[in-house]
Amino acid sequence: MERKWWHDKVAYQIYPKSFLDTNGDGIGDLRGIISKLDYLKKLGVDIIWLSPIYKSPFVDQGYDISDYYAIASEFGTMEEFDMLLAEAKKRDMHIIMDLVINHCSDKHEWFQKALADPDGEYADYFYFREGKDGREPSNYRSYFGGNCWEPVPGTNKYYFHMFAKEQPDLNWENPVLRQKLYDMINWWLEKGLSGFRIDAIINIKKDLAFPDLTPDDTDGLAGCYRMVERVEGVGELLEDLKRNTFEKYDAFTVGEVFNMRPEELPQFIGKDGHFSTIFDFSAHCLSMGEHGWYDSPDIEFEQYRDSVFRSQLTVQKVGFEANIIENHDEPRGVSRYLPDYAQNAKGTKMLATVNILLRGIPFIYQGQEIGMQNAVWTDQTEFDDINTKDQYDVAKQAGFSDEEALAICSKMSRDNARTPMQWSSDVNAGFTDGTPWLKVNENYREINVREQEEDENSVLNYYRKLTTLRKSEEYKEVFTYGEFVPAYETVDGIMAYYRVDDEKRVLVAANFGTQSASLPLNYEINNIMLTNKNIADKNESESFVKEKQLVLDSCDVVVLELGR
Ligand code: GLC
Ligand code: CA
Repeated sequence: MERKWWHDKVAYQIYPKSFLDTNGDGIGDLRGIISKLDYLKKLGVDIIWLSPIYKSPFVDQGYDISDYYAIASEFGTMEEFDMLLAEAKKRDMHIIMDLVINHCSDKHEWFQKALADPDGEYADYFYFREGKDGREPSNYRSYFGGNCWEPVPGTNKYYFHMFAKEQPDLNWENPVLRQKLYDMINWWLEKGLSGFRIDAIINIKKDLAFPDLTPDDTDGLAGCYRMVERVEGVGELLEDLKRNTFEKYDAFTVGEVFNMRPEELPQFIGKDGHFSTIFDFSAHCLSMGEHGWYDSPDIEFEQYRDSVFRSQLTVQKVGFEANIIENHDEPRGVSRYLPDYAQNAKGTKMLATVNILLRGIPFIYQGQEIGMQNAVWTDQTEFDDINTKDQYDVAKQAGFSDEEALAICSKMSRDNARTPMQWSSDVNAGFTDGTPWLKVNENYREINVREQEEDENSVLNYYRKLTTLRKSEEYKEVFTYGEFVPAYETVDGIMAYYRVDDEKRVLVAANFGTQSASLPLNYEINNIMLTNKNIADKNESESFVKEKQLVLDSCDVVVLELGR
């Protein structure tokens, strides 16, 4: 396999609005990010993904861009952005930005011009279509609820939006528009960006006939992703995009791709694929409800393990995926994937270990490295997220009470991941001197960076050990390129795998169950690389190796180098 510069890297996602506020307006900013670069370096981070920082009305928290060439004033200035690039470079770190090109903001000048002249040139940057029999051109439900078609004022036309109505979809069939997007992408790459995380990109290919689809709920609509799943030809657009931009810069690209046809994986991330990598969302997808968050199933341990294993086994034949525990669109992973009894520092370390040492590029989401958890939401008005507001209504319409709808959103809300970063036990978790734009999780006095800095056994220091191990001269090769081989799959509650290459065999074994488990060791132990057990030194290894059996108590995890 051809080696790429990003194969052995560790990435970190920053959600700028919630990272660190330095001017007291309650909103995180670029200066805040710059001031924490050393913190990130010490965490072992090589690549930083910034969620959108472009100019935006923030209807969907910056995923609605009104100017692709400007930094949102809430976050700072272009000079500060250039400073961030330079400071990152000094530390041998890469910055990648979010690329949101399926849609823009309705406040973008292209859309404003389109509205002003619905038959003109700019209307063709979007999908403007006439209504059918006095109603919308088709019956698609947008990701954030309601019909995908919104009337164009003063006309019998509608425009198409798969997300909020303030996020009109861009017409990728228009070569003029495509070229403008490519120019913009290249402009950023010229500046010194190392690549992009590419938002919602599978949606750029539309079925231009926009046929009505069989309704999948009582509203008479069909989820717009159903059109995406049926339509052919997204690959040609993605190749055009890559050839005209990323490829020329050897950029690192990570696609947000749902609803891909499994057999197309090689086209997406194989040699010469559309992207460097895509996120592995297989665990996330386990909690997708049929109708919404209200019927979202709980995730059982075996399902979690099996979904991770399945994608590891599939992907390693083809390329690399990006592994996550959570991101800004999901509840916190420790609250979601860990059983109640494991929702503590020990369990958090266990989940971290099995995730970070998988084959692929680990993406740590801000706060994950200190074990941040879902917040406790006491009122619907505390939520900011557009998706959460819609899902609250969806639950209410399905007959749930206010209290039940609140509980449903508390569990699933994207705002769980967006509460301010917990830096210290000072007021507002040290995030801001002002009023935070979204409430701070009340557990910040127990879970925060400053206290964990001082505690050798903290989750934070454990994460540092994990990334150090993964990137160490000695083990980098096996953790990057070594094969993933499942182990002990038939033992209840155990998530274990080997990473193997010609020189080394590493075993990662975790006990997610409540009972202690004994695993027969098939190889000699050469080295105890890491464990979350409280053992003072390696000689205490007898405490978990008894007569060639590896004994793991509830929530224990261990990383061992074995004989080959
Ligand atoms: C992606 C983003 C999400 C956003 C959506 C629309 O899924 O991650 O935050 O709401 O795209 O841009
Ligand atoms: Ca600020």
